[in-house]
Amino acid sequence: MMKTLPSYDVVDALTRHADQTAETTIKQLHQIETDRAGRMTVSAAGLNLDFSRHLISESALADLIKLAEQAGLDQKRAAMFSGEKINKSEDRAVLHTALRNRGERVVLVDGEDVMPGIRDTLGRLSGLCDTVHAGEWTGWTGKPVKHIVNIGIGGSYLGIKTALDGLRPYQRKELQAHYVVNVDPADLARTLDVIDPETTLFIICSKSFTTMETRVNAEAAKAWMLEQGMPEAESARHFIAVSNNIAKATAFGIAEANIFPLWDWVGGRYSLWSAIGVLIPLMTSFAVFERLLTGAFEMDEHFRTTSFENNMPVIMALLGIWYSNFFHAQSHGVLTYASDLEAFPGHLQQMDMESNGKRVTTDGKAVDWQTGPVIWGGVGTNGQHAYHQLLHQGTRLIPVDIVAALTTHNPVAEHQDWLFAHALAQGQALAYGCQEEQIRAEMTAQGMTQEDIDTLAPQKAIPGNKPVSLLVMDKLEPETLGALVALYEHKVFVQGAIWQLNSFDQFGVELGKILGDQIFDQLTSEQNIAEEDTGLSRWIQSYRQKHGRG
Ligand code: F6P
Repeated sequence: MMKTLPSYDVVDALTRHADQTAETTIKQLHQIETDRAGRMTVSAAGLNLDFSRHLISESALADLIKLAEQAGLDQKRAAMFSGEKINKSEDRAVLHTALRNRGERVVLVDGEDVMPGIRDTLGRLSGLCDTVHAGEWTGWTGKPVKHIVNIGIGGSYLGIKTALDGLRPYQRKELQAHYVVNVDPADLARTLDVIDPETTLFIICSKSFTTMETRVNAEAAKAWMLEQGMPEAESARHFIAVSNNIAKATAFGIAEANIFPLWDWVGGRYSLWSAIGVLIPLMTSFAVFERLLTGAFEMDEHFRTTSFENNMPVIMALLGIWYSNFFHAQSHGVLTYASDLEAFPGHLQQMDMESNGKRVTTDGKAVDWQTGPVIWGGVGTNGQHAYHQLLHQGTRLIPVDIVAALTTHNPVAEHQDWLFAHALAQGQALAYGCQEEQIRAEMTAQGMTQEDIDTLAPQKAIPGNKPVSLLVMDKLEPETLGALVALYEHKVFVQGAIWQLNSFDQFGVELGKILGDQIFDQLTSEQNIAEEDTGLSRWIQSYRQKHGRG
């Protein structure tokens, strides 16, 4: 049988708490623990977390805090912030926090302060933004830039899209952003359909500069630009790159002055704060990008310096562990009651699942406990008319976070009142439901027959007792958005620390890349397929036939 968690002393006590909790309800907890709503709330960096609607007693929560202590979270957190090489399998520091370090703190990697390099790159980004915004960055026919196309995938896309969508009210009207992500030719085609080559700036965004999708899209974009009349010698006006691999970017033909660096201590899924995020200030302003960094920095400082019981990422992480490891929850939902945050769950999927979707510990031993959950999500109220049915009446326990704002950038009639009302309503419905006795009483009062009541009441009853966090901000501003993303980054870190994982490598994605290369070679050649029968050769043959390759 699987263990609940690594052998921390407090695990037995937590297991007993979990057994007792299984006998109770969130409603009963509120009755026993008076002013739970007042106490189970924490504020930081413009965000307020209300975690009172959870299936956990205050004493169980106190023991979860001990779990964080016994997992050595204090030392692990300090090691990350101080630039220790905590990504041991790749021998790298983990310093996305340095990218948004707005204070004076020196951050050393191998004895060298990384802050001057970060500030220098920010200065270059600011200069680029000034030039583009002043209309002084012109294409080969002398026209200023109007379209900016980000070619990148994974961490070189998801965080950028999340941030830029979240900053929609701050976006420039004279510029249009586009994304080419997938190797599906449709992705490139739909962008080429709407851009004007003479006024387009491509950003080739790739930490490694070896990612297949980005490479083939960048090559195709360049070929298209040449076809459209761009002289090869003028390509520096239309292509810039962000990469840790300057040699590859230069070999691709990007002028060295147009390459913005990032460092090996920035993980791809944590890179939106680096030059990888250049589309963000280009489409808004450098000042807005700095505000985003400042919000993240405030959350970093909160996480770095606050005791665990008042520490927002720590609490969120512990609640996640409570359900994953003690209640066998398989997934975690993030419901954003803000349309401008529609892309956020996608970013969280990479951030969380690429970080903690692991099966061995940092020292290579197989884990004997559940690790990262399936992260999913969507925007409210849309989800209420789709998958919320399963949340309310399905058989699975799915904890959710409801993310909402008190005010809006878009005051239209009573829309915001309705939106926030429904964010709160879902919190109530999930936690408290509507019990069968109440429904039976209402049906009886309506004069329904006993037979109809017996058939219908169980179908209409909503059991409630579904754990839900409310994460509320005043307004979706650059600072609150920065804090929100950093909050989840730290939550993922804490969970990885307790599960004893390296949250910063991603070897699991490599096999698919190797097989993809091999199968690509087979699909595109006419040579005999020497293949043991795994079912693959049939597909290779039919694909080749379709493409006239024998
Ligand atoms: O294949 C996974 C991955 O390496 C992610 O970790 C990364 O964010 C993405 O691919 C893109 O990588 P790059 O920025 O190097 O192109």
